[in-house]
Amino acid sequence: MSTTSSEASIFAERVPAYLKRLERSTAALLPAASTDPERLHEAMRYACDGGKHLRALMVYAAGETLGVPAEKLDAAACAVELIHAYSLVHDDLPAMDNDDLRRGRPTVHKAYDEAIGILVGDALQTSAFEVLATTEALDADQKVRMIRALAHASGSLGMVGGQAVDMASENKTLTLAQLESLHARKTGALILVTCQLAGIAANATETARHALERYGKCIGLAFQIQDDVLDQIADTATLGKTAGKDLAQHKSTFPSLLGLEQARQRANDLFDEARDAGRSMSDHAEPLLWLADFIQQRDH
Ligand code: IPE
Ligand code: IPE
Ligand code: MG
Ligand code: MG
Ligand code: MG
Repeated sequence: MSTTSSEASIFAERVPAYLKRLERSTAALLPAASTDPERLHEAMRYACDGGKHLRALMVYAAGETLGVPAEKLDAAACAVELIHAYSLVHDDLPAMDNDDLRRGRPTVHKAYDEAIGILVGDALQTSAFEVLATTEALDADQKVRMIRALAHASGSLGMVGGQAVDMASENKTLTLAQLESLHARKTGALILVTCQLAGIAANATETARHALERYGKCIGLAFQIQDDVLDQIADTATLGKTAGKDLAQHKSTFPSLLGLEQARQRANDLFDEARDAGRSMSDHAEPLLWLADFIQQRDH
């Protein structure tokens, strides 16, 4: 059984302030919707709206646990959300999952058009590296290390590679090991990197970095297992995206390979392991414990 640590939480009280910081950094970075080319800039802002912003919260939670002031985490939190937003816009394109609904609204290529969808993704991706390169809160060495970590997590050995394998695996039944490797790349890499970025901001010790990485890996895989489970059991209105897509598109998922109950159990075990990693890292890991509970309890 999973342990719940949310009762005594104080990180929860700071979540609205962290989300405000994220909103401010994103708004300051992206050109105004009135800047030429207006349609592109408007669509970039549209793509960043909504969403749970869990990856930004992971940067802040991991950073807080390591004692890093929020201003040293802002660029990383913003950058990882920009990469994530770009990945969703491209994931929804007709050439990929061909989805019409995202975050309860039409997907970017539906609200605008396909070319704008491609270009929004391209521009959000480069903006992510721009925010890391231009922040004044970090030293040059930290910025380069962050840029490198985020590039690696986002690229062909990380998220993009996972997406390529995901597309190539439609209509195939993967082994559990193959599916785990796919999930670790397409979703896990960007979740793991939130912990790595916080570790860089903190100049964390090797021991702390290892514990944080274990936390990030467990949350990353648990998160995608949950996404697969929710795709199967939740409704479109709650999800804010079309339910039942994985089955319709013949994707291998944890529920399709293990059955719903075992898939859920695997996710719960991973959340427990993540909490263990958090506790092993610090006596002040309450933000990480709270976030694990919060993610575990999500319904969309
Ligand atoms: C959805 O991620 C895509 C996956 C990687 C499974 P989220 O569920 O974090 O999406 P938003 O940002 O809250 O919309
Ligand atoms: C998408 O996975 C992961 C990335 C965008 C990198 P899914 O295709 O399962 O995400 P949803 O279900 O459309 O949000
Ligand atoms: Mg997909
Ligand atoms: Mg999809
Ligand atoms: Mg999904």
